[in-house]
Amino acid sequence: EARKAELKAEIKALLKARNAVLVAHYYTDHEIQALAEETGGCVADSLEMARFGRDVEEQTLIVAGVRFMGETAKILSPEKTVLMPTLEATCSLDIGCPVKEFSEFCDQHPDHTVVVYANTSAAVKARADWVVTSSIALEIVEHLDSQGKKIIWGPDRHLGSYIAKQTGADMLMWQGECIVHDEFSAQKLADMKALYPNAAVLVHPESPASVVEMADAVGSTSQLIKASQTMDNDTFIVATDKGIFYKMQQLTPEKTFIEAPTGGNGATCKSCAHCPWMAMNGLEAIKASLTGETDGHEIFVDDELRKGALIPLDRMLNFSA
Ligand code: 13P
Ligand code: SF4
Repeated sequence: EARKAELKAEIKALLKARNAVLVAHYYTDHEIQALAEETGGCVADSLEMARFGRDVEEQTLIVAGVRFMGETAKILSPEKTVLMPTLEATCSLDIGCPVKEFSEFCDQHPDHTVVVYANTSAAVKARADWVVTSSIALEIVEHLDSQGKKIIWGPDRHLGSYIAKQTGADMLMWQGECIVHDEFSAQKLADMKALYPNAAVLVHPESPASVVEMADAVGSTSQLIKASQTMDNDTFIVATDKGIFYKMQQLTPEKTFIEAPTGGNGATCKSCAHCPWMAMNGLEAIKASLTGETDGHEIFVDDELRKGALIPLDRMLNFSA
């Protein structure tokens, strides 16, 4: 604890000295989220992180999250220095969507509009017509569908099938998934609901369709937090990474938040509702990224790819339904 307090003080001083700002995702450790709040940075979902990083005055960003979030920041602000606690923090969706195979898939359907989730590499974004995050995917696909567009969707099959169901859009799916959300179990959730009959169920749409079907609210991290504030229930069962409880509990301390159960059919969970890559973001690593005492913190994106990826990213950021 004493070491943590010391580290936090050191990071605060370093952020000031370097005129840097901390941009953290809701799935990072609660200490990191608190630090971002205390130092004038931001804690947000992936769409708001992208906007904040682009618009903030500071020229050095520490992005605490996973790699695609750092890359997105760099693509939007090539003149800024973008640092991450570790560049090893990837995402199973990114890993499961290699650009070569994904491009070949797109090439087979040239009459389709390519929509990719933000949780992808810069190269995959550069191959896409649109980038979306979970907070804006529904509106953008609705818009494309209303124009009669047929869609290639990648990489998250659960989010894709949720959107296809909601919009009725014609969507060809890449078969990727988030290893964290994929583990939520509908069967166990039904048992839990029976124990807490007054609880509302909040579900991130990267979860399996059977779990999404049981939700009282479905949405991105920031949308789920909003729902936890605005819904009248005093208890919530939450199917997303447990990092989100910090903000939910902070906003409504009088409410009770319970983790949705993982691992169906007797299987034990692997990620247990916490993303192993988000968990790589620690205070030591943040400090190291600011002092430059270890390599492997700065994000660089090839200029050609950056220009290609900026087009669909800008489309998303400029979109209003
Ligand atoms: P949000 O855009 O909802 O923050 O989601 C990002 C993510 O990685 C979810 O697993
Ligand atoms: Fe990727 Fe899932 Fe981790 Fe989000 S929670 S970064 S989608 S692996």
